[in-house]
Amino acid sequence: MLNSLSKTSAFVTRQGRNMATRAYGSSQLQLAKEGQAEVILVGCGQPNKGMGWYHAIQMLEDRCPSASLDYVVEPWFMGGGKDSEAGVEFAGWQKEAEGKYGTAFIGSMDDLPEPKAPRLALISGRTADNPRLLTECIEKGSKCIYLEKPGAPTVAELEQMKNEAEAAGVEVLMGYNKNVCKYVRKTREFAETVKGSHVTFVSNNAYEPTAESLGECFERNAEGMLKNMAIHELALLASFYDVNVDNIAEVTADKEFSSLQTLKGPSGKDFTDFDKIKFTIKTKNGNTVSVQADRCGGTDSYAFVSDPSGEEVFRYYMPDDEDKAMVQELQAQYPTAMPYFFTQDPDYVTVKERVAKHTVDGLPAEGIATVQIAVDTLKVAEYLTPILQEQLK
Ligand SMILES: NC(=O)c1ccc[n+]([C@@H]2O[C@H](COP(=O)([O-])OP(=O)(O)OC[C@H]3O[C@@H](n4cnc5c(N)ncnc54)[C@H](O)[C@@H]3O)[C@@H](O)[C@H]2O)c1
Repeated sequence: MLNSLSKTSAFVTRQGRNMATRAYGSSQLQLAKEGQAEVILVGCGQPNKGMGWYHAIQMLEDRCPSASLDYVVEPWFMGGGKDSEAGVEFAGWQKEAEGKYGTAFIGSMDDLPEPKAPRLALISGRTADNPRLLTECIEKGSKCIYLEKPGAPTVAELEQMKNEAEAAGVEVLMGYNKNVCKYVRKTREFAETVKGSHVTFVSNNAYEPTAESLGECFERNAEGMLKNMAIHELALLASFYDVNVDNIAEVTADKEFSSLQTLKGPSGKDFTDFDKIKFTIKTKNGNTVSVQADRCGGTDSYAFVSDPSGEEVFRYYMPDDEDKAMVQELQAQYPTAMPYFFTQDPDYVTVKERVAKHTVDGLPAEGIATVQIAVDTLKVAEYLTPILQEQLK
């Protein structure tokens, strides 16, 4: 698989597919073939920076056999932001991808033609834009929607989106990739072998520990750390530890580890957020579990198991030794890309492939979080944020 990601083969036209085609300039271009979902990527983002861009790369490189990326809808970098430095970079990548893969790029959902195959809309826009983007994806005949986490800025908006999709008979599945990843599975399996054990999920980002870098991060991810970064861990808690707002008995912040800061974003406005947070939750039905997240902690995530005396008895990293070579290879191929793309690379493939396959065959998408789990998770994030802020004052 890694060979197919090498520099030389990265932009090779897909060969030998039994595909539909559409006229594009003077040539016929490829569309989803039998057994594939026609994927519309909504909100690609800047090359090497946007989550959507990395989703695009994985599909263009044929790593998700049930997904054919046929349309990229990029309202900002092909619209208001097209003359910015990032917009110019986007245009260069667009040209390359159009030429090599036949993917159509459009600046507005209005220009999307009717679906020619089961349509999967992958929404990877800014969270605040998601409610509107979801409505547009439903209007444009999507059968299924892959919604990037956390889905919406607020519980109220996400619940509304859930209802809207249900009424339209459109399924919404979530990009909570940690639900399917190896370190979580290994840690949970080990914890089951130690009576009275305690699991801590640790998530790190690699921002510079400066006011400028964190201020930019706080503004760009203005929904806050719990809804943006640690939301993956909250989804694990909701999925595997019965954590939901009605079942939380106790929340305790680790004051020594945690840090709450007010910093200026690039716009000059102030943003208050955690740059580090650690807390433990006890549930009414007797589960205890901890989460630790650090914006400047590095590029890896891991989980560890402590025995009842508090001693750590097991730790599993993402990436593990087996995956480190793959991460290095991807880093060499895309040296300026966000590091977390590589450590989570196999999980992004797994989630997209399962959702795309489900869009085509309707069979269960195993382990993939539903929009209901996303609603429960977001409720927990909204519940915890003021409590933890209060404890850290
Ligand atoms: N699953 C994961 O591990 C993971 C990781 C990172 C991000 N995400 C999620 O992916 C989604 C996209 O995140 P991202 O960091 O790539 O977002 P981003 O802000 O970089 O880009 C998303 C879109 O926002 C628009 N945009 C960018 N700058 C704009 C501007 N100045 N004005 C107006 N519009 C602008 C563009 O259309 C772009 O496609 C979010 O939902 C995020 O939570 C998921």
